[in-house]
Amino acid sequence: MAETVPDRPFPVARQARLAVFASGRGSNLASLLGAFPTTGEEPLAAVRLVVSDRQAALALAAAEAAGVPSRHIPFARDRERFEAAADEALREHAIDLVCLAGFMRVLSPAFAERWHGRMLNVHPSLLPAFRGLQATRQALEAGVDESGCTVHFVDAGVDTGRTIVQRRVRIEARDDEPALARRILREEHIAYPEAVRLVLRGEVTP
Ligand code: GAR
Repeated sequence: MAETVPDRPFPVARQARLAVFASGRGSNLASLLGAFPTTGEEPLAAVRLVVSDRQAALALAAAEAAGVPSRHIPFARDRERFEAAADEALREHAIDLVCLAGFMRVLSPAFAERWHGRMLNVHPSLLPAFRGLQATRQALEAGVDESGCTVHFVDAGVDTGRTIVQRRVRIEARDDEPALARRILREEHIAYPEAVRLVLRGEVTP
């Protein structure tokens, strides 16, 4: 088991090693690969591992195309085994920071504690509003006039950890769920690399 880490694991005095966990399409993975390429030309960090709970995830194909080591680790009803295998992969690749990017599983409080201060998530709402699934639909149903995205530290709750970056999106009267989700996603692609930089420089702590 990995040790619980102190609250201030960053900055590290070398290029940080990132892991990205993704379940599907992987557009946030693509934005992180663009900002922190695995070829290593960004001194702050490089993506060194991709993990997916779904064999068919486009994220795994994107990882292969980018030349990043990747792992398919099944989750289906067995979170403990997923987390043990994930811990092992993260240790094997000497990962400093885990980025959940469209990873649609809830990790255990124990896993969140082991990666305390070293695991981030992106969520398609202005947290604390609209936690959990279908955040964009929740925002439309609530009739609010803006939503957006949040990158936050992961803690033992669901979408409850400290906010690092938020970006706002106005909701137009003609918006349906796909249209709003597309505009929010564009903001996520800016927000996530920005949040990773803030954390790695030690400018935001949990
Ligand atoms: C993103 O909108 C992300 O915020 C959301 O899933 C999408 C993944 O897109 N995540 C959650 O809702 C987590 N609760 P991507 O696979 O193209 O990065």
